[in-house]
Amino acid sequence: MSNSDLKQMQTLAALGVTSAAQVKSLFGELRAQFDAQTAKASDEDLWKALRDGWLGRKSGVLTLVTDNWLKPSSPELKRAVGASLNELRTHVNAHIEARRVAIEAGTEMAAAAKERVDLSLPGVIRPIGSHHLIREVFQEIEDIFFSIGFSVVEGPEIETPYYNFEALNIPEHHPVRDDMDTFYLDVPKGEPGLLLRTHTSPVQIHTMERRDPPVRVIVPGKVYRRDNPDATHSFMFHQIEGLAVDCDITFCDFTGTIDYFVKQFFGEGVKTRFRPSYFPFTEPSVEFDASCVFCGGSGTARTGGTCGKCKGAGWIELFGAGMVDPTVYGFVNYHPAKVSGFAFGIGIDRLAMLKYGIDDIQVFFQNDVRFLEQFP
Ligand code: FA5
Repeated sequence: MSNSDLKQMQTLAALGVTSAAQVKSLFGELRAQFDAQTAKASDEDLWKALRDGWLGRKSGVLTLVTDNWLKPSSPELKRAVGASLNELRTHVNAHIEARRVAIEAGTEMAAAAKERVDLSLPGVIRPIGSHHLIREVFQEIEDIFFSIGFSVVEGPEIETPYYNFEALNIPEHHPVRDDMDTFYLDVPKGEPGLLLRTHTSPVQIHTMERRDPPVRVIVPGKVYRRDNPDATHSFMFHQIEGLAVDCDITFCDFTGTIDYFVKQFFGEGVKTRFRPSYFPFTEPSVEFDASCVFCGGSGTARTGGTCGKCKGAGWIELFGAGMVDPTVYGFVNYHPAKVSGFAFGIGIDRLAMLKYGIDDIQVFFQNDVRFLEQFP
């Protein structure tokens, strides 16, 4: 059907309508058409087409009926046409609005159905993590030292050369600095240098600057060195520093404390010994060894042959320590003649490797859960 065939495009005279009854029947047809189209307007686009088709200002059906049926109608029919047109307009307006409300509600319901959360579905099960082995070992060591009156202090990982070296009696051209060749930070010219600390020993100085004796602290933390990574070296690793200073601390207090710690950590059966060593900030300096925890100190593996861990020596090197060098007290305004004390610096990663039979330090930093979950 072309547009011009539509009845609303023609006048009533052209359609041969001459009575009120014919007018009524004509409006009845139109209303039936509207109802049929309304029933099909099931989404927003179809609804818009329906609305424009019937209510459009220029060429909507109601405008055409007004222009082609009402306006040119004979005076006898005008009343009947006007009444029917009003009735039709009320019907169209009401149903187009009702349709809009229904479509909107339907869209919202569909969206709500999509978003609905099904509480009966099983949840996403996230595996529960655990402390890293290094964290566990820190905790173990801290607990041992808490039990004999030490407390924990922490210090900055970015240090000045003064705290990392000079105040520890390591002047600028001291050969010991070669071992601790380190990561320096870029700082503007003229500003004091900064570096990533190479050991936890600078916190000895910070602590003594802040506190008068007696001092009994341990210092857990990360340290950094320009060491090439291999099975026992990492460029970032962990240490626990220990420092005890009072007016009457002796070498016996020192070795007794270390012996207590080693027995608590590795077990009562483990023996300790110390050998002379050298650190610029302790005098005398020692290296502590423990009897090999793998072969029981015999040097022979349980399966026969030489123990691979201590290489037959029966002893394993643990860490460096010593009585605090009196020169260090000069840097923190302690009276060297009135105080004495000891200090130690334990490499936590290697200690953990020893205790838990781990033969490569790198596994601590690779985040491989197959390794991590062995130490829940
Ligand atoms: C020191 O760092 C001294 N500050 C320790 C100290 C403190 C001595 C107080 C006396 C008094 P040393 O450079 O030996 O000492 O390092 C201590 C421990 O850190 C070593 O025994 C070792 O277990 C660990 N360590 C050193 N370098 C590395 C590395 N690259 N990777 C992993 N562990 C390391």
